[in-house]
Amino acid sequence: MSRLIPKRPAEGDSELAARLRAIINTVVDGIITIDGNGTIESVNPATERIFQYKAREMIGNNIKMLMPPQWAEEHDNYIQRYLKTGKAQIIGIGREAAGVRKDGTIFPMYLAISEVRLGKRRLFTGIIRDISARKIAEQALAQASENERRILGQELHDGLGQQLTGASMLAKALQNRLEREKNPAQKDAAEVAEMLARTLSALRRQAHGLYPVELERSGISTAIEELSLSLRELYGVNARFSQRGKLPPMDKTTALHLYRIVQEATSNAIRHGQAKQICISLNCSASVLTLSVEDNGRGINLKRLTPGMGIIVMRYRASVVGAKLDVRRAGKRGTIVQLVWTRPTPSRKRNEKNNE
Ligand SMILES: Nc1ncnc2c1ncn2[C@@H]1O[C@H](COP(=O)(O)OP(=O)(O)OP(=O)(O)O)[C@@H](O)[C@H]1O
Ligand SMILES: [Mg+2]
Repeated sequence: MSRLIPKRPAEGDSELAARLRAIINTVVDGIITIDGNGTIESVNPATERIFQYKAREMIGNNIKMLMPPQWAEEHDNYIQRYLKTGKAQIIGIGREAAGVRKDGTIFPMYLAISEVRLGKRRLFTGIIRDISARKIAEQALAQASENERRILGQELHDGLGQQLTGASMLAKALQNRLEREKNPAQKDAAEVAEMLARTLSALRRQAHGLYPVELERSGISTAIEELSLSLRELYGVNARFSQRGKLPPMDKTTALHLYRIVQEATSNAIRHGQAKQICISLNCSASVLTLSVEDNGRGINLKRLTPGMGIIVMRYRASVVGAKLDVRRAGKRGTIVQLVWTRPTPSRKRNEKNNE
């Protein structure tokens, strides 16, 4: 199969065709055309640059060869469903997705798909922009801000927190001594001790909100357990955490992204859902980790969403770790925020033909 738009002018080309060809061949975005079975019919030179394949290695193959396995699995069903029902999930709408280069590296891309009808044939055109550089800059920015929070959180927890603990213990000892001596000043000492204890627990909460110190010291499960404990103490909600399966190895940044997602989802459950119960669960199997935050509040109204930063940032964090995030109503009441993280499998042979 050949390109729909050849690189070089063909005899009898109209000026319009020549102009179109020049545009398609020089744009920085990748342009791919596939048929209803997902078979690649044409690619422009930018697609070759982005995915590192020659056009002839892609044309005639299934588009799945350019997708990570977790996206590829759904793709065939998706096209078939669309052709049958006409219900589009991404056609006509742009979204962030992931691509796989010839060397196996997965990269973030912005993908816009449109449908083209050529006589009776239905083709799909994907316009692809490699957004790796933008993502790296965003991550560096997010990392810098997390670092600031970490330093501030640790300073509060270990520095000021320890000094306050010392002062609080001294005040308590003074109160006990004055009590033993039946000194009337014991009441004042008790008040000072009480005030210091309250200040200390407020400071611990602040420090914890800035940076979950346990995350680094004892891991994500302990940090989430601590978070649910403080939600119970602070807001009186019945927040519970459960874990099934052994946690897969994960780096600190991934753990922090997952923790922040739980933090935002639980805060939304209390602020917006007025939930009385929150179940946080972490289910781990050999290849998939599922993290869910389910509340019994009034339930999110996806049709009338007041736009905020929380859900956008949760989605961003999920995409950074290569996970999928779903926010939906949990039945009649309540909301569920679910993250599914498929652990990267060893890279497949990229040059295998994929159009089974
Ligand atoms: N658990 C929930 N229950 C009910 N409504 C929810 C829940 N989570 C989110 N929402 C709704 O979704 C909207 C968007 O949430 P999001 O977290 O993006 O923004 P926000 O919480 O309003 O602001 P921000 O997170 O930036 O402080 C909320 O305003 C609320 O209407
Ligand atoms: Mg929020």
